[in-house]
Amino acid sequence: MRRLIAGNWKMNGLISSQAEIEALKGLTGGATCDIVVCPPFTLIDRAVEAVKGSNLVIGAQDCHAQSSGAHTGEISAEMLADLGVRYVILGHSERRVLNGEDDEIVMGKALAAHRAGLISIVCVGETRHERDEARALEVVGEQLRGSVPEGATSRHLVIAYEPVWAIGTGLVPTSEQIEEVHAAIRQMLKERLGDDGHLVKILYGGSVKASNAAVIFGLRNVDGALVGGASLKASEFAGIISAAV
Ligand code: G3P
Repeated sequence: MRRLIAGNWKMNGLISSQAEIEALKGLTGGATCDIVVCPPFTLIDRAVEAVKGSNLVIGAQDCHAQSSGAHTGEISAEMLADLGVRYVILGHSERRVLNGEDDEIVMGKALAAHRAGLISIVCVGETRHERDEARALEVVGEQLRGSVPEGATSRHLVIAYEPVWAIGTGLVPTSEQIEEVHAAIRQMLKERLGDDGHLVKILYGGSVKASNAAVIFGLRNVDGALVGGASLKASEFAGIISAAV
């Protein structure tokens, strides 16, 4: 399966950050994986223009579940597709916690992304407390079943396992922990999508760096990474991409 490496810039980046995308293009010309950069909404139009003719594509960090209407400040999946966006991150733990997004909301957004022809990167992951209570598989299973629409296929769905306690902390689960959760996600996808469940990419996210990427990519059912902080600097992000051979 061709690996996917996605960079989630979160609420970072000004117009001058375009230089990082230009630098990334130069560093990843020979990459053998799919590469997605997800800048803030404000930079998407310029970013789509900048990556034309390269092997980079642009994603967004969220979308609304409706296609249009009285939703002040919101952005629809159709608007993103209109700009040339290909992927959209949905259900990131920061939105689940800070914006009160539950599984039902995430599923509605995933249906909207599919409607607009976008590929959803649906995030799941347990908190420190849930991990310490040995409830990681239970929580991730609930999130997956509650967020992934019936009838989803590998053509428009990617899953990102992001243990909340590993995001931005420098902490990474053990290889055994990552493989255990990714195997459980793979099994759940097969139960929900049939044979196509084998083809849905499962990304790992949470303190991925150039220094640990090769080990993480060598684990079973790890098909790539969703990278936060390390994606903001082209040289570091390119180091992760080069490990995804
Ligand atoms: O969506 C990716 C992000 O949550 C991971 O953040 O900084 O730990 O790579 P970071």
